[in-house]
Amino acid sequence: MYVAVMGFGTVGSGVVELLYKNHHSIVKKSMQDSLDLKYILDIRDFPDSPYKDKFVKDFNIILNDPEVQIVVETMGGITFAYDFVKKLLLAGKSVVTSNKELVAEKGFELLTIAKEKNVNFLFEASVGGGIPIIRPITQCLAANEIDEIAGILNGTTNYILTKMITEDVSFEDALKNAQELGYAEKDPTADVDGHDACRKICILAALCFGKHVYPKDVHTEGIRNISSADVEYAKSWGGVIKLIAAAKKIGDDKISVTVGPAFVQKRSQLASVDDVFNAVLVRGDATGDVVFYGRGAGKMPTASAVVADVIDAAKHTLKKKNFGWDDAQENYVINYREQSAAMYVRGTAENREEAIKAINEKIGAVRVLSRENAPENELAVVTNPLPEGEIRDKLQNISSFAPVSFIRITNY
Ligand code: HSE
Repeated sequence: MYVAVMGFGTVGSGVVELLYKNHHSIVKKSMQDSLDLKYILDIRDFPDSPYKDKFVKDFNIILNDPEVQIVVETMGGITFAYDFVKKLLLAGKSVVTSNKELVAEKGFELLTIAKEKNVNFLFEASVGGGIPIIRPITQCLAANEIDEIAGILNGTTNYILTKMITEDVSFEDALKNAQELGYAEKDPTADVDGHDACRKICILAALCFGKHVYPKDVHTEGIRNISSADVEYAKSWGGVIKLIAAAKKIGDDKISVTVGPAFVQKRSQLASVDDVFNAVLVRGDATGDVVFYGRGAGKMPTASAVVADVIDAAKHTLKKKNFGWDDAQENYVINYREQSAAMYVRGTAENREEAIKAINEKIGAVRVLSRENAPENELAVVTNPLPEGEIRDKLQNISSFAPVSFIRITNY
């Protein structure tokens, strides 16, 4: 059996390296007589690469070669990846991808084509890099009704927040440091503004709850507005700030999905997930909380998940792996403002006593937080659980208090 790899970037080159390094055991585990790399598609030249005889620039060579039965897509982005993957599936080839944007935007359509063509469309590497999470949800935890799934799904922002928490540096300095180390891109928008984590929670929500979730339907906040003051207040509350992507079942036919900074209690398993590491907590009705932890990005961890999918695709050539989800449904994801949560709110108040009294009158008793060297007119409180929109609206309408920062408080 032959394999092709499209995109020789960080992940694609790791996939090729792993396919050669562990060739013997990979072939054995795939239950095939052979599993060999035939082509690498990339528009760039790699004259010094040990795999230089494998490179092609024309996608049609892969598409039209009947010997190639499994194609790895590690190009990223949507435009070319979507066009190529769709054509490959329609041509009856299995596809393995690490491309979270592709799965989050086009997953339902591509899974439907794969089903019709009786081929595999697998994407273990699209969430959590080297952390096994797609298969555990669809197989090992299959007996559970999953009530909630939440995680730290972006390594770059977790690195930045860890720096801010442990070294007391500003967001700007921590971002600069992450860029110097190569974690954050020159344009860090997708990571810092939460879009990368959003795509990943959309995929997990679809797997856990059975319907496609589009990133545009998910309220997404990043970490740009987190200040050292918020970090200190989180400490005084008894926890840390993490960028949490979460999806939760609401009644029988709705879910909530949000991405944003959140206060996490110190004793939570997510609180000690530091640096570029990721973790995913799955709350099953039979298992209770199960947590998956590991390297959520990087060349070889992500390649590990891709190659595992290649092995699985090779093992399931006659009968495809049966997993997927239904089409999206209007109003299935509730507006984040309807979701009940306790919230941390920081703002300014010229008369703190008057502001606290007014806040208590509007939304019930709140816990007042303190920190060292706070400006005299700063006030930070933690509310009881209420619909988020109600907390925001009511606190924005108090004349003695001007809220600056709203952060959700988790219960895991
Ligand atoms: N930029 C991503 C992260 C890489 O920092 O987690 C994996 O999607």
